Amino acid sequence: MNFAGKSVVVVGGTSGINRGIAEAFAAAGAKVAVASRSQEKVDDTVAALRVAGAEEAIGEVFDVRDHEAVASALKRFHQDFGEFDVLVSGAAGNFPALAAEMSVNAFKAVIDIDLMGTIHVMKGAYPYLKRPGASIINISAPQSYLPYEGQAHVCAAKAGVDQITRTLSMEWGMEGIRVNSVVPGFIEDTEGARRLAPTPQAGEQLRKDVPLGRWGTTKDVADACLFLSSDMASYVSGTVLAVDGALYQRGSGKFGQMMGDMLRAQVKA
Ligand code: HXC
Ligand code: NAP
Repeated sequence: MNFAGKSVVVVGGTSGINRGIAEAFAAAGAKVAVASRSQEKVDDTVAALRVAGAEEAIGEVFDVRDHEAVASALKRFHQDFGEFDVLVSGAAGNFPALAAEMSVNAFKAVIDIDLMGTIHVMKGAYPYLKRPGASIINISAPQSYLPYEGQAHVCAAKAGVDQITRTLSMEWGMEGIRVNSVVPGFIEDTEGARRLAPTPQAGEQLRKDVPLGRWGTTKDVADACLFLSSDMASYVSGTVLAVDGALYQRGSGKFGQMMGDMLRAQVKA
């Protein structure tokens, strides 16, 4: 994969899966821009992207819930990098909580970050996307189509993200812009996995629920993003690509039930 001369923007690209994606594009020679809420994480990532081989690396600090801040930062990326060849939207928030125990504001926080954040990023980037040729990737989650107890907020938000993907693949397809979602399965050594499977027992149950018998890696997800943004995927748009070791085929599995039981036990205690 050679992305020399290409401009890549990864929103939420300063840790975990999204940082792995940003570093993979950097290693493929791209100019890479990242953004998130923490200046420290942005600075650390930009330095790492340069070491990884990025032609250029820059960063901005914003909260995806602030659509004006998102639009201004994307404008600055465009001033520095020119048209965007690749846009990855991956900022997200998650905590396990039963709906009855969650405040309305807690539910809304995740909707605002994951769902509203996605449309803020896509609309903010729209004027600067390369036409024809841009590849947009929204980072979704199995919760988009698998119901998990304790995840009503995330399930609702990520299902919305994938419907935005499908709808805008039609609206923007005529301009030569491809829009896809990538659904990581459970990815080792990430904040999301630590929050959902906080004990070794939960982690082991999760692994057993995956037909391929292992957790995913950030590289597994990054490789899919490189493919989707390459010429090899030039006719792939509107798809929701699971990189999940076939997790979907077994549904939310025993792990899903275990999570509901754990949360109910916490409420009783
Ligand atoms: C119940 C909670 C809660 C919890 C927060 N809240 N944590 N409610 N259980 N564990 C409530 C708060 O009380 C508050 O409601 C509301 O949520 C907003 O919380 P704040 O702390 O004010 O919000 P904020 O500072 O904006 O932080 C957002 C966040 C936080 C989502 C709550 O955790 C965050 O910034 N997360 C980003 C990192 C992250 O989550 N990474 C994992 C992504 S993985 P009240 O009513 O008190 O105002 C992922 C899917 C992974 O997305 C798939 C799994 C494999
Ligand atoms: P992570 O390390 O917490 O990454 C989240 C990123 O988004 C960070 O860079 C974070 O940086 C940024 N971010 C969070 N809230 C933000 C906000 N309001 N505005 C701007 N940036 C924000 O989590 P992860 O586990 O790697 O997850 C990454 C993506 O993969 C998410 O979309 C998640 O839903 C998806 N996913 C993860 C898994 C998994 O196994 N981990 C499985 C399926 C899907 P700041 O803190 O600096 O803002």
